Amino acid sequence: MGRPLPRDVQVAPSILSADFARLGAQVDEVMAAGARVIHCDVMDGHFVPPITIGPLIVAALADRVHAAGGLLDVHLMIERPERQVAEFARAGADNITFHAEATPHLDYTIAHIKEGGCSAGVALTPSTPADALSDVADALDLALCMSVNPGWGGQSFLPGSPAKLQRMRAVVGDGPVLEVDGGVDVDTASAVTGAGATLLVAGSAVFGAPDPAQAYRDVADAAAR
Ligand code: DX5
Ligand code: ZN
Repeated sequence: MGRPLPRDVQVAPSILSADFARLGAQVDEVMAAGARVIHCDVMDGHFVPPITIGPLIVAALADRVHAAGGLLDVHLMIERPERQVAEFARAGADNITFHAEATPHLDYTIAHIKEGGCSAGVALTPSTPADALSDVADALDLALCMSVNPGWGGQSFLPGSPAKLQRMRAVVGDGPVLEVDGGVDVDTASAVTGAGATLLVAGSAVFGAPDPAQAYRDVADAAAR
């Protein structure tokens, strides 16, 4: 069974910006600095142009992350995610989030993720209204607000994102964890926590820095302010 999502404010380093030649060591570094949620970006070359990682990488990290008391947060940027979620659950994902724009079957996909023993999240791109979550709100464990257009690390934070987070919170209620992904760094962290986000994905701000452990601590401190 997947580990439960944290309810306190946490920064989730995204391995998209890590050095994949030494991925395990990079994950160890940020976990030693206090990270407990490791964010894995899965891209299929269709829903978004890039192709990144699949279940093999999730499986390769699962024991290491779980042994250190952490969890794997898998963000699927793939079309028809319902065909893939069981495989990611078997690979050791704890939370699986898919995009509302990628399937007509939100309710089915959420149920399928939960059958696999994972918590379930739905992500919205910047142009999808918060209302897209209204009819699945009760089933959601997590709602993810993309604060950049999905597909690439290192983009600038979209300034409308705090207001979007507030609209998403109003739609989903207090139950789901509210996550934000894209352009989160020491300068933008407090704006998203102020808007209600508690799980903050940070890719380039952590793994793009010369010292990812220190960079993780800096973003976590900024999120706590
Ligand atoms: C982008 C991914 C993000 C990415 C964020 O589509 O979903 O998780 O790693 O990268 P930064 O933090 O650099 O914007
Ligand atoms: Zn992501």
